[in-house]
Amino acid sequence: MLPLTTQLTANPKPKPQDENKLGFGTLFTDHMFMCNYTAGHGWHDARIEPYAPFQIDPACVVLHYSQTIFEGLKCYRRADGELQLFRVRDNFARMNRSALRMGMPELDIETFIAGLIELLKVERGWVPHQDGTSLYIRPTLIATDNKLGVHTSATYLFYIILSPVGAYYKNGLAPNDIYVEDKYVRAVRGGIGETKAGANYAASLLAGMYAEEKGYAQVLWLDGVQQRYIEEVGAMNIMFVYDNKKIVTPRLNGSILPGITRDSVLQIAPHFGLEVLEDRLDIYEIMRDIANGHITESFGTGTAAVISPVKAFAFRGEIYPVGDGGIGPVAQQLYDTLTGIQYGRQPDPLDWITRI
Ligand SMILES: Cc1ncc(COP(=O)(O)O)c(C=O)c1O
Repeated sequence: MLPLTTQLTANPKPKPQDENKLGFGTLFTDHMFMCNYTAGHGWHDARIEPYAPFQIDPACVVLHYSQTIFEGLKCYRRADGELQLFRVRDNFARMNRSALRMGMPELDIETFIAGLIELLKVERGWVPHQDGTSLYIRPTLIATDNKLGVHTSATYLFYIILSPVGAYYKNGLAPNDIYVEDKYVRAVRGGIGETKAGANYAASLLAGMYAEEKGYAQVLWLDGVQQRYIEEVGAMNIMFVYDNKKIVTPRLNGSILPGITRDSVLQIAPHFGLEVLEDRLDIYEIMRDIANGHITESFGTGTAAVISPVKAFAFRGEIYPVGDGGIGPVAQQLYDTLTGIQYGRQPDPLDWITRI
């Protein structure tokens, strides 16, 4: 593990007064963690510094070839005021897999987790208190060589920034309408769909914009070859509940993100007597089973919203309302359990929590 230096700001920003108005990802704390990589020398200069803009050369590799990856996780404040992280090692393990797929160096996970914990101690006062709020953590890795020509960089910058965020939806769980995208695709087999590469999100923006214009919260992606098999939602994995007792979700196929919330649901659900199945899901069969009432609930899973029920899907000009359009009992139970563990209201039998 690398030694860590800390330089504190002389000008801390005022903290938000009204935690009801936090929103998502617009406000950042006073400090950030950084570490550099140079080929032949490895990772070096792990440090905490005041939050500040970077100077970037116009020829920087990341600006041209999108050699960049990121992660998203949260620090939660417990009722006793203490702080904790949820499955932090799984986020860094996923980031490492993203790095290797993108031709980037293997991460120094021990140094980065120690750096994150130190950063959280420095920024303790920025973790909001109100129910459903948290401190969003954004680890990022960018290529920093300044040269044109398509090849991997020899130098990289890893950094972590922090942002206090509100509850994703005001009342915690809020059903949304989803547009099934049948023109554009997000990822293809053999591509980078299973990584958290910035380029995946760039590929998704136009369809997301059109869906929003039509009044939909997010897009449901289909596979990139036949546009028939269900992949995932914009920033969530997707699940369907059959007859209130069986959860089905697309199996990991290389083109969808292996979500940590998805995996947590698959591990927790059997404890409630729910069957779980990871499979290839045909959009026509799923829409049929929504229409005939066999599918009683559908919800997205992700760090930002935890569990996000789907009110209705729009597919090829038809609207498919799910169940009664409200919050189903399975979604509610999973939401209560996951947030219970994350905020320390419930025990942590699967050893997912790291106390700060
Ligand atoms: C494309 C995509 N799928 C799924 C997820 C859900 O992943 P997780 O549960 O790890 O947040 C996210 C969010 O990170 C995402 O961006």
